[in-house]
Amino acid sequence: MINKRFFEAVCLAGLLGAGCSSSQKATAPKVSSLGEAYKKDFLIGTALNNAHILERDSLANQLIKQQFTAATPENIMKAEVLHTGWEKYNFEMADKIVAYGQKNNIKINAHTLIWHSQLPFFIRGIKSADSIKAYFENHITTVASRYDGKVYSWDVVNEALNEDGTMRNSVFLKNLGPGYIVEAFRLAQKAAPNTQLYYNDYNIEAPKKRAGALEIVKKIQAAGVKIDGVGIQGHWHLGTVPYKDIEESIEAFGKLGVQVMFTELDISVLPNPLRGNTADVSARADENSANRGNPYVKGLPDSIQLALAKDYEKLFRLFLKHKDKVTRITFWGVTDGGSWLNDFPVRGRTNYPLLFDRKYQPKPAFYSVYNLKK
Ligand code: XIL
Repeated sequence: MINKRFFEAVCLAGLLGAGCSSSQKATAPKVSSLGEAYKKDFLIGTALNNAHILERDSLANQLIKQQFTAATPENIMKAEVLHTGWEKYNFEMADKIVAYGQKNNIKINAHTLIWHSQLPFFIRGIKSADSIKAYFENHITTVASRYDGKVYSWDVVNEALNEDGTMRNSVFLKNLGPGYIVEAFRLAQKAAPNTQLYYNDYNIEAPKKRAGALEIVKKIQAAGVKIDGVGIQGHWHLGTVPYKDIEESIEAFGKLGVQVMFTELDISVLPNPLRGNTADVSARADENSANRGNPYVKGLPDSIQLALAKDYEKLFRLFLKHKDKVTRITFWGVTDGGSWLNDFPVRGRTNYPLLFDRKYQPKPAFYSVYNLKK
């Protein structure tokens, strides 16, 4: 069954053409699908949580199937979920997202093999470099080989860089040295020869951090190891989306012959209580501080809706301009209600960063992106 209210909204906005009778509604989904509209340009993805993967949220389920050609598990393929003890793995949910993708013809980008956050609890007890090395090798080999040919791609390494482009002092850098990134890609390539392999990070559009990411790509290539693409996460704020940096980055990564993806796109409309733009999941702002800023609990003013629609339109114009290099745009969530930005970096705020609202309806930002392809 198609969500009636959703199609009424789409009809009202004129996306289905004059008339929009109920028989047209029944065959309408393809016409108003972003994934369909952009299928000759790049994949349009979303992030899936447990309820989505288990198909417990029927309205979201309809939207996902209708709108998206790609999906990334928001949490369930992170090491803390998959790798529960030294030799213990829990593949239950990961197997389910793979099946969901196959059933619905949605390409799955697996996220993520090597990342300093959301690591298994048992890692904290590991004291020797040799044991970290054993974890690193076993994790990549076991997980990547299980899903080879079943997932489309892997974020092999996530967030390895500091803001100044130097390497983050993670458990992997400390124990394995700076060569660990090339090693991760080498192991992933061996375990998953039929899977696309990416480096993923936030703020790598910014010049200094971008330089660090370019170095990573060059080192992997110089070692004769495969890297297919770079994912720019794209967690930005309304009114300060760094268009110029984004365009320069697409060009710079493109010159190295790798694909460019925007892998976790959302635009926060709330005040940023942190210094600078960060998507470091450990960053927290005090919930009671004067900077808390939660101005839109009762709804989003039209002026902000329109500003959001304009930012998204400008971004997608840029993505389309570079569609020879840009291969996927993934939104970090399905609807505003499910966005992690309601709890990051302050818990319990009401944010509006995506294209679908809390009632699963398309927002003006949806139309501004969709209409570019009309
Ligand atoms: C976030 C998820 O959205 C949250 O549900 C979770 O609590 C923390 O992680 N960069 C990433 C993503 O690579 O994995 C993060 O996802 C957001 C920042």
